[in-house]
Amino acid sequence: MKTFDESLSPIGSTVKKITTNVLQQMKQQGEPISMLTAYDFSLGRLVDLSGIDVILVGDSASNVMAGHETTLPITLDQMIYHAASVIRATERSLVVVDLPFGSYQGNSKEALTSSIRIMKEAGAHAVKLEGGREVKESIDRILTAGIPVMGHLGLTPQSIYKFGTYAVRAKEAEERKRLLEDAKILEETGVFAIVLEKIPAELAGEVARSVSIPVIGIGAGNQVDGQVLVLHDMLGINKEFSPRFLRRYADLHTTITDAISGYIEDVKRRDFPNEQEQY
Ligand code: KIV
Repeated sequence: MKTFDESLSPIGSTVKKITTNVLQQMKQQGEPISMLTAYDFSLGRLVDLSGIDVILVGDSASNVMAGHETTLPITLDQMIYHAASVIRATERSLVVVDLPFGSYQGNSKEALTSSIRIMKEAGAHAVKLEGGREVKESIDRILTAGIPVMGHLGLTPQSIYKFGTYAVRAKEAEERKRLLEDAKILEETGVFAIVLEKIPAELAGEVARSVSIPVIGIGAGNQVDGQVLVLHDMLGINKEFSPRFLRRYADLHTTITDAISGYIEDVKRRDFPNEQEQY
């Protein structure tokens, strides 16, 4: 098994478990934070074993696991199912779970109840929710219960029908100003980190420099404190999704379809199973 060069992780490689405090130290000492999504036991285990710092059980499960066009349909019960599977696979990574659409926007009590379910039923380490000032009260209430919260600004896919497009956000002065203010509000409210999705790299860098908590980007350039990608995209399972920010580290689409074609041929030729593969 190929393992990454641990000298690149002076802080992460010395700890048995990643906590929010470890992420804070990484920010302070300039060690970039690695984060990937996972939704099931088998891949969750490989991601954890490979040494990733943070696993996000993202509501992108709605797209990559369930085949929906948006993240909106996934339910709290389904998120808890995915999260519990990942938690069973994880020894070292910090596991953050998305609060799905409709599980927190109603009011802060609903947000707290949903977060408690995720922590209790899945065994998650933290929750993530989308938005700035409009979710401040909910974040306050979740934090009061001792649940760590990660924020998410920029392109927030649960609001896709409001935006009307997956284009880059915060290019204009007004939205840019609002995003900088929201990042400050999230920091002051007490989130332990913020995800910035699909915004100009230089704005993301400005946010990262203006707050003391880690800022993790996806499509937000390299001036931030860490990076996150959707696992299935970076493994090349899905060939249709090719945004500019995505780097593919494997071509599992080809590897898997080649393997399955080989199996079909062996079955059709009566070549599988052979003498050694039967009783
Ligand atoms: O659900 C998800 O995968 C996410 C990432 C894109 C950050 O929120």
